[in-house]
Amino acid sequence: MDSSLSATQTKKPEGSVTSRETLTITDNRTGKSYEVPITHGTIRAADLRQIKVDPKEFGMMSYDPAFNNTASCISKITFIDGDAGILRYRGYPIEDLAEKSTYLETAYLLLHGELPTSAQLENWTYNVTHHTYIHESIKKFLDGFHYDAHPMGMTISTIAALSTFYHDAKDIFSADSRTKQTYRLIGKMPTIAAFSYRHTLGMPYVYPDNDLSYPGNFLNMLFRTSETKYRPNPTLERALDILFILHADHEQNCSANTIRSVGSSHVDPYSATAAAIAALYGPLHGGANEEVLRMLMEIGSVEKVPNFIKRVKAGEVKLMGFGHRVYKNYDPRARIIKRVAYEVFELMGKNPLLEIALECERIALEDDYFVKRKLYPNVDFYTGLIYQSMGFPMTMFPVLFAIPRTSGWIAQWEEMLLDPEQKIARPRQIYLGHDTRHYVPIGQRG
Ligand code: ACO
Repeated sequence: MDSSLSATQTKKPEGSVTSRETLTITDNRTGKSYEVPITHGTIRAADLRQIKVDPKEFGMMSYDPAFNNTASCISKITFIDGDAGILRYRGYPIEDLAEKSTYLETAYLLLHGELPTSAQLENWTYNVTHHTYIHESIKKFLDGFHYDAHPMGMTISTIAALSTFYHDAKDIFSADSRTKQTYRLIGKMPTIAAFSYRHTLGMPYVYPDNDLSYPGNFLNMLFRTSETKYRPNPTLERALDILFILHADHEQNCSANTIRSVGSSHVDPYSATAAAIAALYGPLHGGANEEVLRMLMEIGSVEKVPNFIKRVKAGEVKLMGFGHRVYKNYDPRARIIKRVAYEVFELMGKNPLLEIALECERIALEDDYFVKRKLYPNVDFYTGLIYQSMGFPMTMFPVLFAIPRTSGWIAQWEEMLLDPEQKIARPRQIYLGHDTRHYVPIGQRG
């Protein structure tokens, strides 16, 4: 496939005789034919509505549970070619950004469409950095959580609670208001995440240090104890920044679709972002990195890997961190993450679970079951090992995903909001339930 074309765009076949960009559909129930336009290799589902047997009918719909083959929007943010293993933000290959950019610069790119000039980056960094503090009442709110509350649950609730502090956030069609909420969301996410973590440890909260970089300050808020000035290890600071870049956006996945869908009701961005974080929390999405570690611990040793793979093939368990709805090739992010993992292990010592992970990957990449289904390691397969080596408990893993994804979510939300074609999200259904029935009093029911 031409990598400059999206999954929904196709090239005209060589030597094609017809130049009509249309699709002719014949309804064999009536013998009638319909010609519908093709744009970007796509037909509009609404064009199917003219297909009816009886004029009183609603008209033809397409049935697509889980949106396997439905483009729900037109986007200019992120491009993925899952077959070729390509990921680009605003046209820039993920490999280039991971090597040369920083998370804050990448977030700017996602949100503004272009890489910033030096002045723009300075201004952007200043503004995000100066929105890292949270209202003291939010600390009290966090204190209300039980000591063993999952930090992801705390993050979801606290981000939703921000909407009660910033009433101007409701003004979603004001560009100034959106910019302000963007600074706040990107700035405060690490603070809320770090405070949630410290709360579970019963340790005092560490306030943001605005002299530090975005990932450096996050490490400061997580790990500082009695030192007057926390100095993040540069290898860990850069590793975290790269992981943040890799997780910043991934087009129309479950959580991006959530923020677009919830945001389409015109709710404020804090409530919409909380919904997106909740979508990410699930084990099939951002919760997978936590599940990968649990799985590697359950396997326990390299010798037990073949038996575990047998269980996967028998359908008893899933090989977590493998497979992807879009990538039918090695996830390009997983490749970069594997390299970062070795850099972190060099500093922190090799994670003992690494050998088990490598053996799972080795066997899976050679095994027919995985090859036939095109199951390759995804972004989550190695991230958990890095996070664990950096000192994060497993419950923090999905939170570490949510922090950088905030920029992608806001970019998706804003694009949806400003798209004149978008309306409140409202899918249709095929109703196969009962026809009218009459209420039966409880004493007369069998
Ligand atoms: N282990 C074993 N078999 C798998 C796995 C896996 N991890 N993933 C898919 N399969 C099998 C399915 O059982 C199915 O087999 P079948 O054809 O015999 O029924 C086939 O591969 C196709 O899988 P689907 O479930 O149709 O793929 P789908 O696109 O719906 O699911 C998903 C993608 C959810 C990511 C899936 O691969 C999975 O559950 N992986 C494990 C969880 C995970 O790592 N999630 C993180 C994804 S990345 C992210 O969200 C950031």
